[in-house]
Amino acid sequence: MLIDKFGREINYLRLSVTDRCNLRCCYCMPEHQQFLSRDEVLSYEEIIFLVNALTRTGITKVRITGGEPFVRKDLSSLLEQLSSIKTLENLSITTNGVLTGKYIDQLLRSNITNVNLSLDTLRRDRFFRLTRRDEFDAVFASLQMLMQKPFNLKLNMVVINDMNVDEILDFVELTRNHQISVRFIEEMPFNGQGKDYSGIKWNYDAILHHISQRYNLTKLADPKHNIALNYKADDFAGSIAVIPAYSRTLCGTCNRLRVTPTGGMKLCLYGNDVLNVKDLIRSGTGEQELIAAIQQAVTLKPVNGFEAAAMKEVEQYESMSLIGG
Ligand code: GTP
Ligand code: 5AD
Ligand code: SF4
Repeated sequence: MLIDKFGREINYLRLSVTDRCNLRCCYCMPEHQQFLSRDEVLSYEEIIFLVNALTRTGITKVRITGGEPFVRKDLSSLLEQLSSIKTLENLSITTNGVLTGKYIDQLLRSNITNVNLSLDTLRRDRFFRLTRRDEFDAVFASLQMLMQKPFNLKLNMVVINDMNVDEILDFVELTRNHQISVRFIEEMPFNGQGKDYSGIKWNYDAILHHISQRYNLTKLADPKHNIALNYKADDFAGSIAVIPAYSRTLCGTCNRLRVTPTGGMKLCLYGNDVLNVKDLIRSGTGEQELIAAIQQAVTLKPVNGFEAAAMKEVEQYESMSLIGG
């Protein structure tokens, strides 16, 4: 088992399979970003080796993230290999939705029923301003296709001051007739653009207050390891949630481990890489040794994101595309 020094059992791996993205969301990436070369990125073989090792330590859930994970060539073959790992109980995906619509059958074939889709606006012109790419129709089509199939679908909306705050209630409306969870995320400083971040204007409290002016919200029970506060508007089919990603009020029950495209292992979204699994695997480290190194690293997991951020010497905020959300 992977247990940190606060007794938290780490059983959820977030694996970002590519730093490349087909969008350029203004809160995430500059227009021009130097991408990694192929050799710097974990190969599928290495990913399978890693996940097999981790499932022997009690990791039962793996979330594949991007950007758009399907940007990576032949992702379907990786998903199929992962889905055949018997001890893996839950294989999920987080995507910007630009390509995912084309792969709905593949997701179902790989038993991926948990899909988190990022969409910050329902207006095409605004989508272009926000992402610098004209892909609204593709993402909206993916959303509609996903809603027609038996997916457990979460829609992530990053609340950005002066950009999409006026659409918060429109997003709540999406849950009236659809059994989805719409999650409002506090903006974080991971914009890949120096230290240029002026702090949060719309925190989870402000978002909730804004929504409850219009809707009667009932608090839902939150799952054990949770980074979102879940609610439901009266008589609506779906639910809403706020994610205090910047306020970091829910770190205490965190059960996550992150691996970046280059094999960097992070114990917190806000922390440094504590280990590089690609380097270990490429230097011939066997499964048992890899497990031991990861178990050792996990003991360093900070109690919360503030501690992790304090340990991190920030020259410049990384782009979220390098972390994978
Ligand atoms: P499930 O709980 O499996 O549905 O997914 P998730 O919420 O972990 O996944 P998703 O990729 O949709 O993440 C949504 C957003 O939640 C991320 O982009 C972050 O903004 C935020 N988030 C995820 N993990 C953490 C975390 O460990 N700490 C903080 N502070 N925020 C997080
Ligand atoms: N702040 C908050 N959320 C972000 N995401 C990407 N960058 C940021 C940021 N700076 C979100 C995406 C996606 C999730 C994986 O991370 O919108 O929903
Ligand atoms: Fe946008 Fe996600 Fe791509 Fe960043 S990685 S540009 S947030 S879609």
